[in-house]
Amino acid sequence: MSPASTQDRFDPLSADFAADPYAVYATLREAAEPLYHSGLDVHLLSRYADVDAAARNPLMVRTREAFLEPETLAAEHAAAAAAMPNHFRYVQFSLLDSDGTVHRRLRKLLLGQFAKRAVERFTPIIMSHLNHLLDGCLEQGEFDFVADLAAHVPGWIIGHVLGVPPADRPQLKLWSENIVQFFDAGRTAEHAALAEANTAEFADYLKALVANHRQTQSDDLLSLLIAAKEARQLNETELISTCMLVLMAGHGSTIDALGTGLHALLLHPQEFDRLRREPALMSTAVHEMFRFESPLPYFHRYAAEPVEIGGKTYAKGTKFGLLYGAANRDPEAFVDPERLRVDRRPNRHLAFGRGAHLCLGNNLSRLDMEIFLTLLLARTEDIQCLETEPIYKRGITERGLERLRIAVRPR
Ligand code: HEM
Repeated sequence: MSPASTQDRFDPLSADFAADPYAVYATLREAAEPLYHSGLDVHLLSRYADVDAAARNPLMVRTREAFLEPETLAAEHAAAAAAMPNHFRYVQFSLLDSDGTVHRRLRKLLLGQFAKRAVERFTPIIMSHLNHLLDGCLEQGEFDFVADLAAHVPGWIIGHVLGVPPADRPQLKLWSENIVQFFDAGRTAEHAALAEANTAEFADYLKALVANHRQTQSDDLLSLLIAAKEARQLNETELISTCMLVLMAGHGSTIDALGTGLHALLLHPQEFDRLRREPALMSTAVHEMFRFESPLPYFHRYAAEPVEIGGKTYAKGTKFGLLYGAANRDPEAFVDPERLRVDRRPNRHLAFGRGAHLCLGNNLSRLDMEIFLTLLLARTEDIQCLETEPIYKRGITERGLERLRIAVRPR
């Protein structure tokens, strides 16, 4: 495919792209310069070196505040706030969608809570939740790994991290899905209304939780954010928005990672057998699963100043798509990138991004996956994939299976 025909034939919402984005990514990487996709209105960076450099570059920013005229920005914000007041306030503004000092201030508040050591203290509770989910599924023998199992993992765990009572955690999944669907391509007024109503409900719930939490001392994330608010390190809007972001950033991505990770192992039986024989490889193997199928393969940046990429200068304000999923299959960066290798080391993949916005949940999501696979291997003798033609979610911003039917032989 020549670069020009790539542009014509590359529809990010098509079934073909969902079935095999990696063929398109290969043509994008081989093209002389980043493809400008008119439908997405972005320049797509696909080579590892370009994506890595852009993610690290402090002049590549998430918001347009750095280059839009203040009046233009204010008018846009006023229109967005009038259309969807809660969604604008708590979701369209977030730690992820901020730059500079605001971003650093909010990020610093969470860093300790998501550090490796800090999340490891959740190991017993994660194990007990996952064992409980496995009990139900393994009994059935055959089940949909995505809907019956993976979908019940992240809301519960992130709810625990935040300090949401167990009985309320199933609702987190629904709020998250209904709010996030607003970012899907092809959204309608109905999608917007659903997102707005769910954001309002979720914000009210969090405000009530904050009010109750004030009376209890605990080491969960909500208590930490409440203390930070009392110390004037963040305001109430930022507190609510940060709780929402933590849930929404980690919900769909964890479900997808579990599904595509297990599927990748099932497609590489020798690697799967090796992992069964050598469980010490688990952490390396999990990194490789994130490289091989990156659940969040695309994030945008704007050039706050003119930038040069591949010898070409792009004007201030240019929007770029950082294709982490394409960079992670770049043969210039990884030997034999189309193969899953559970012992791949080093593995400097970009599945969690890089630089200022590096995923805060990366230790937690890898821990979830490690515990989960360890339990699954310990509790099964054999797992078979029942999908002959797996169906993937459409779109460029996520990579995940619609379903994954498997048959298991429990131990
Ligand atoms: C399970 C798979 C996950 C993947 C693949 C993933 C991937 C990513 C990526 C690529 C970014 C960088 C965005 C950018 O470059 O603009 C990011 C940011 C972020 N992620 Fe994750 N994530 C995952 C899970 C989680 C979880 C479980 C949490 C929280 C519990 C979380 C919280 C965040 C937050 C708060 C940010 C924003 C960081 C910032 O802007 O400074 N993520 N994630």
